[in-house]
Amino acid sequence: MPPRYRPDLDRIHPYRPGRPIAEVALEFGLTDVVKLASNESPEPPFPEVQDAIAAHAGTLNRYPDNAKPQLVAAISEHLGVPEERIWCGGASNELMLTTALAMGGPQTSSVYGWPSFGLYQIGSRAGFADDIAVPLDAAHRHDLDAMRAALREDTTVVYLCNPNNPTSTHVPGGDLEGFIDSVPDHVLVIVDEAYAEFATASDYRSMVPLAATRDNVMVTRTFSKVYGLAGLRIGYAVTLPESIEHFRRIQLPFTVNTLGEVAAVEALRHQDRVKERVARNAEAIQFLTSSLRSRGFEVADSQTNFVYADFDEGAPKITTGLLERGLIIRPVIPEGWLRITAGAPPENERFIAALDEIT
Ligand SMILES: Cc1ncc(COP(=O)(O)O)c(C=O)c1O
Repeated sequence: MPPRYRPDLDRIHPYRPGRPIAEVALEFGLTDVVKLASNESPEPPFPEVQDAIAAHAGTLNRYPDNAKPQLVAAISEHLGVPEERIWCGGASNELMLTTALAMGGPQTSSVYGWPSFGLYQIGSRAGFADDIAVPLDAAHRHDLDAMRAALREDTTVVYLCNPNNPTSTHVPGGDLEGFIDSVPDHVLVIVDEAYAEFATASDYRSMVPLAATRDNVMVTRTFSKVYGLAGLRIGYAVTLPESIEHFRRIQLPFTVNTLGEVAAVEALRHQDRVKERVARNAEAIQFLTSSLRSRGFEVADSQTNFVYADFDEGAPKITTGLLERGLIIRPVIPEGWLRITAGAPPENERFIAALDEIT
């Protein structure tokens, strides 16, 4: 007889990460597998960051400093936001889940666009909130009017991923500010900016300035994407100090580890390299988008490090054919749509060449 679990856990679909390279290599008997499935950076951490990590390996017998003073100071300086508004965690996933638990409870609800990042649903359900998924519009963007209309008396939190995963699209800054203005003050608007650094559209705007000044706005950011530190698990949020105090009541101690802190502090010092990465990413996105469009596939306008494309009923054959050729991409929703992370130029070319073989 198994233990008696929470019965409502049946409503929570476990997060499904992209397939690991080693697993695919083993299954298909391959030695050279490329993963374009988890929106990671194709580039390793900056060399100075790798040196900082190596230099601190000998200190790992000690717990990290839970207050993370150096990281908080570095983020504060980088963003121009007071230190008391900065909250660090074991990447944005952890901050999001902690927030969902703190904002949830019986007789509460959360609102988020769909499809979007899966953790908003998982967190809401884990936190006993009723979750309300609002379909994106025909251009695969958040439908802000519909989201506003979906707010209920008992809504405590709205999640807005901008640019959005998995669709790669963005909502313009002015529209998002208008939406935030229209939301009641007691509702926390969480703007997930995991991909903010990649956005190049002239009307894209980070909501960090609003999170730095308003009470009911929180922006989450991560070192997992443009900084290439997904394996270390570091992220941060900008929001009201009083909210941070509440969230910390249930945040586990030490979720930013020693190496994560030193790596992030060092990474922030290299904004020139970040700019170069962003430019290389924009070229890769341009290559993938135009290559797919010229082959007749619908591709959303991407402001991220991945493309979202419609392969219709060919999608399963393409996904399997790519796996057989050592390329991992990600089936997403709705059925028929696939998400392809921008890799290094030879990887992107290999993806298009493999696609041509399959189709
Ligand atoms: C929109 C979005 N938010 C958050 C995350 C989580 O990132 P991390 O927990 O590594 O910061 C991801 C990861 O893919 C994402 O796509």
